[in-house]
Amino acid sequence: MSELKTILVTGASGLVGRPLCAALEAQGYAVRRLSRGEDAEFQWDVEAGHLDAAAVRGVTAIIHLAGETVAQRWSDEAKTRILSSRVDSTQMLADAILQTEERPIFISASGISYYGVESEELVTESSETGDGFLAEVTRQWEGASQTLMNSGCRVVWMRTGIVLSRQGGALAKMLTPFKMGVGGRIGGGRQKMSWVSLPDLVNMYLFALETPSIFGALNAVAPQPVSNLEFTKTLGFVIGRPTIFPLPSIVVKTLFGEMGNETVLSDLGVMPKQLEAVGYEWVQPELEGALRETIYGDN
Ligand SMILES: NC(=O)c1ccc[n+]([C@@H]2O[C@H](COP(=O)([O-])OP(=O)(O)OC[C@H]3O[C@@H](n4cnc5c(N)ncnc54)[C@H](OP(=O)(O)O)[C@@H]3O)[C@@H](O)[C@H]2O)c1
Repeated sequence: MSELKTILVTGASGLVGRPLCAALEAQGYAVRRLSRGEDAEFQWDVEAGHLDAAAVRGVTAIIHLAGETVAQRWSDEAKTRILSSRVDSTQMLADAILQTEERPIFISASGISYYGVESEELVTESSETGDGFLAEVTRQWEGASQTLMNSGCRVVWMRTGIVLSRQGGALAKMLTPFKMGVGGRIGGGRQKMSWVSLPDLVNMYLFALETPSIFGALNAVAPQPVSNLEFTKTLGFVIGRPTIFPLPSIVVKTLFGEMGNETVLSDLGVMPKQLEAVGYEWVQPELEGALRETIYGDN
């Protein structure tokens, strides 16, 4: 029997990591998890600069998802954790790989915040980077694996949109008020939302892993960004509830500060130009079906 290809996954315990690891195993890969957990098979402590170097040896690919959650108030300490958990961890992985002769595929999570907080036009992978704290985080996060790219690794940055899940993230937070009938548009509702279903995001990681021509930035979003108003109406329609209670921007800014401004109030229309160019086929390309499957599906 031929040996299984091994994939090292960081952040495997997270929202994206759990279904991704299950999908990798279902595809016949051996999954190695690198975690902060004490019982972890392979351990690291990014703050302390500790990484079990054996974790990166003999792997076909590394999928790097780990990072401190962005969904918290951005105190100075939180901002430091959000940045360093991504940039320092990438640097540690890169250093460990470069000490070996091996050149595994390196696929890193990144975010559409690379393009800033707002875009007048639709943006693609070749658009310029923008303003804001998260834009700076994504630039440094992607930049930390540039040495790997220069040394011959195939590196992919998954610039991820708003992931639809009922288990966590933005949609899970919206569901309770919407189900109670007190949901509504956020701010003026004109801001664009670039979303991706979780099954598609998992498939995109597998597709990036198995498609040698893919490298560099990849916009991991559905091909149809929508306005917040359209998102709100579609969500209300899918769950059969009214959506007449708008959440004013000033309330979002008061409750969430800078974080609210750069996430729920951001206005980014992002197109998945590279995925379309390489022929990726979306499981859930349109919002209504994606919301229905996310909220009422088996997963
Ligand atoms: N979900 C989204 O809408 C979205 C959108 C754009 C980009 N992304 C990016 O995609 C990646 C995966 O997202 P996700 O939603 O699955 O994230 P998640 O559920 O928050 O999980 C991230 C994982 O990272 C590890 N982690 C958390 N804090 C850490 C810290 N301070 N230092 C080191 N490791 C830490 C944890 O794994 P262990 O406890 O096992 O160490 C955790 O399970 C993240 O980097 C995120 O920024 C997500």
